[in-house]
Amino acid sequence: MSESAAAATSTWSGRFNEPVSELVKRFTASVFFDKRMAMQDIRGSLAHATMLARQHIIAAADLAAIERGMNQIRGEIERGEFNWHLDDEDVHLNIEKRLTVLVGDAGKRLHTGRSRNDQVATDIRLWLRDTIDVIDGLLANFIHALLDVAETHAATPLPGFTHMQVAQPVTFGHHLLAYVEMMRRDRERMSDVRRRVNRLPLGAAALAGTTFPIDREFVARELGFDAVCENSLDAVSDRDFAIEFTAAAALVMVHLSRLSEELILWMSPRFGFIDLADRFTTGSSIMPQKKNPDVPELARGKSGRVFGHLMGLLTLMKGQPLAYNKDNQEDKEPLFDTADTLTDTLRVFIEMVPGIRVKAAAMAAALRQGFATATDLADYLVKRGLPFRDAHEAVARAVRAAEEKGCDLADLPLAELQAFSPLIDDDVFAVLTIEGSLDARDHIGGTAPNQVRAAIARVRSAL
Ligand code: ARG
Repeated sequence: MSESAAAATSTWSGRFNEPVSELVKRFTASVFFDKRMAMQDIRGSLAHATMLARQHIIAAADLAAIERGMNQIRGEIERGEFNWHLDDEDVHLNIEKRLTVLVGDAGKRLHTGRSRNDQVATDIRLWLRDTIDVIDGLLANFIHALLDVAETHAATPLPGFTHMQVAQPVTFGHHLLAYVEMMRRDRERMSDVRRRVNRLPLGAAALAGTTFPIDREFVARELGFDAVCENSLDAVSDRDFAIEFTAAAALVMVHLSRLSEELILWMSPRFGFIDLADRFTTGSSIMPQKKNPDVPELARGKSGRVFGHLMGLLTLMKGQPLAYNKDNQEDKEPLFDTADTLTDTLRVFIEMVPGIRVKAAAMAAALRQGFATATDLADYLVKRGLPFRDAHEAVARAVRAAEEKGCDLADLPLAELQAFSPLIDDDVFAVLTIEGSLDARDHIGGTAPNQVRAAIARVRSAL
């Protein structure tokens, strides 16, 4: 084969004198990761071809041939029979090449009025839209899993912490509902991102639009997009939506990582608040006694790679002049890995959370050690007329006395308590119990078990 004949085998090689070097081919090819968007690429091409035929830009017979070829290609890919070629650079050229082999000139007409620049932007948006819908379903399932455990433990007390010091009693259900709120915001963020993902770039062609009488609105409707991208330069070069998605995913990972950290702490014998089901823990190769919370630890660790992808994508975009640049090919791997990491982590959490075994006795024991009802005693004095700051001071002295005796506030005899304030009566002991403390926080957002149950019911009916 002569040099020019070899060069002419590549899709865009007409004006080149020598073939691309093997090294450059490998460096610039994306097919081994972007073939993941093959189904979206076919969907986009079929919508484009349908529009071309409707607008009489290609013949009806060409459309029929393209549809026939694409159906075959779809089957080949699904059966794992499609031969992906590095020589054909990316998913778009691989499919177009195969189409041309299958249906001849009709295949060569498909690319009329479009460019890989608007094609790839369309494919990513279709792919991301599908992915966001999967993630939304997983978030909903995770919320359901949390709600079920929260309901079982709507009245199970454990210490609430601030500064990792025992602060006030809360219920385990209330604690889990905090994560439910985070996940509900995550769903909102994802659906907000989806609105901006769901715009059609196709029609922008390489950057300036096309000379053919295309119908972009038709293609948008065919593909389920809410609208078309308004500016052709922006359409081919915008990757804000990928960054936004990764930012939203990073926040979900932050939330999962915080929960992981708590599960790890609670599972440590120093806390002993919970056990995870054995199938979510692993042993040590040397220490026979160990049961390690590897799953939450990995989830906590995996948050790092998603944050890295967010930083990577921001950096990818910051120096790019309009319009499309090959830099943009680097958007896919971080995006795919973000989606994979997030969906894997959510799936494992959905399975793991129902297997949390709550050790209520250990939670209660921890509460008895931390003077968790000291604020309740101060509130009691305030209700009897003492200014809050004076009440705070009186209770602080009582706590110090209890600490010296090595007992809880509720264990101090009435006479001793009265030494800190004459306003204290024997009804004080109801206030100093954990149950009294919980029940007293009886308003929307409070930890009283009936409020926790009401909150669960509200979330369930909103889902
Ligand atoms: N593989 C490329 C990407 O991922 C497709 C677009 C290529 N366009 C081009 N003019 N080289 O961005």
